[in-house]
Amino acid sequence: MDKWWKRSSFYEIYMPSFKDGNGDGIGDFAGITSKLDYLKELGIEGIWLTPFYPSPKVDNGYDISDYNGIDQDYGTMADFELFLQEAHKRGIRVIADLVLNHTSSEHPWFQESKSSKNHPKRDWYIWRDEPNNWESFFGGTAWEYDAETNQYYYHAFAKEQVDLNWANPEVKCAMFDVMKFWLEKGIDGFRLDVINFLKVHDRFEDNPTDGEQIHLYDKDQEGVLSVISEIAAFVHQYPDKFLVGEVGSEDLDILKQYSGLGKLDVVFNFNIGSIGEFDAGKLFEQLAATEQAYGSAQMPTLFFSSHDMSRYISRFGNEEDRAKLVAVLMLTAKGVPFIYYGDEIGMRDWVTDDIAKMKDVQGIMAYKFALEEGKSHDEALVMANKKSRDKSRTPMQWNLDAQAGFSEGLPWITVPEDAGKVTVEDQLNDPESMLSFYKSLLKLRKEHSSLQVGDYEFLRMEEDMIYFVRKDQVEKIIVALNFSDQPNLLEAGTDVRLLLSNKRTRLDRGNEINVLANEAIILKGEIGNDLVKKG
Ligand code: GLC
Repeated sequence: MDKWWKRSSFYEIYMPSFKDGNGDGIGDFAGITSKLDYLKELGIEGIWLTPFYPSPKVDNGYDISDYNGIDQDYGTMADFELFLQEAHKRGIRVIADLVLNHTSSEHPWFQESKSSKNHPKRDWYIWRDEPNNWESFFGGTAWEYDAETNQYYYHAFAKEQVDLNWANPEVKCAMFDVMKFWLEKGIDGFRLDVINFLKVHDRFEDNPTDGEQIHLYDKDQEGVLSVISEIAAFVHQYPDKFLVGEVGSEDLDILKQYSGLGKLDVVFNFNIGSIGEFDAGKLFEQLAATEQAYGSAQMPTLFFSSHDMSRYISRFGNEEDRAKLVAVLMLTAKGVPFIYYGDEIGMRDWVTDDIAKMKDVQGIMAYKFALEEGKSHDEALVMANKKSRDKSRTPMQWNLDAQAGFSEGLPWITVPEDAGKVTVEDQLNDPESMLSFYKSLLKLRKEHSSLQVGDYEFLRMEEDMIYFVRKDQVEKIIVALNFSDQPNLLEAGTDVRLLLSNKRTRLDRGNEINVLANEAIILKGEIGNDLVKKG
């Protein structure tokens, strides 16, 4: 039997924005537990939770100050345990986001490390007498001066997110204890944050620049793969656990090094997921290159939105048909799918005209740097909105009243008038809605083993139509995704059966299928069927 995660569809929950259970304006475990039936009905089988540990939340929880607790905004340990138990009861597995690369500057380990040059934990972090030229991924220098001990510490992200020194074996032991703690609580695996950052260059060479800094020596360094193998071996001592790594790269040659036997189970394929426009050619190129690079030894992931990216519906022109087409790709092409909360109802990006409302550290820093460079307030705001990840972090649109429940959170998204039905409540009983489409799609995926684990019989693109066949011993599924604004003809044999389309409910008899503009069509064929694109 294949591993459970190969057959599962995942759903990312951004902790503060999903569901507020206690009326304080912040999402929490009680809220998520109350929506488990919704998620079960939607048809997902795994949840990825963004960090829920105690944190000052400079970077919304990616700055952890206690790895073995629950942030009080999200509830108590008992709330977490109840949530996990209720999820498991419904056959939903849960993976936790774990930040191994850095801790909050408020973490006791760092407070101790900072207290004196001779403290035994001094070497748990990266201290130097002089900075080099490395820049933080949020902008500015990556080194912060500490006047008390007259040295600089390294932070790849905000200065409140201090990089641990993974060259020190004590750090590794401490983090293995953290993983053990959560594994013994019954967590089903981890999403490992910026995992390719664990090692930095041992002589701290300056990074080259080419207009902008090229991050050559501060990630993907020698030794990182062996640490990852140790992490994987440690976690996989516990049966049936899953590891997905965030390797922040669009370069397939880099990505593919991190997953496979003895390494991470999968990594996020940004080469596919962060595609900027609705562009069949670029998408196909990456799907095909990934298939070639991975073969049957590795499994890719499929996602198009996250808490770090804009929502794909907005990126692709705010058109529902296009969003449905991309959902079909995500749930029928080869890979482990990760749906971002709210995408199933077509939630859109949010931008602000008021910098005071911006919450994301990356956006706020972009604003500050722009002003320092002499940009006007308006120009700085444009740059800040571009960088800010608040765009995709707005409260889940359960119903129009849900806005009130999130008074402390990000404001309710301004919904364009032509956006149609934008809440779960609106869409729940509407068979034409995005939500209903996602449900049908997830159900279909669950019922067809070839969509979960089947190989490609082929994967092709012609005239902006991507089409492929997934096949296992049991069946053959044909998927055609017409990205073009023109129809495309497909010859698929007379014995094919329509499983799902975003544009029709029945298939006219005959060999040729006229795949409409932006139509996604899923067909079931018999083994041995030929499939030809009609020119
Ligand atoms: C990852 C997270 C992102 C965070 C960063 C630093 O990229 O997804 O949200 O800001 O790591 O921890």
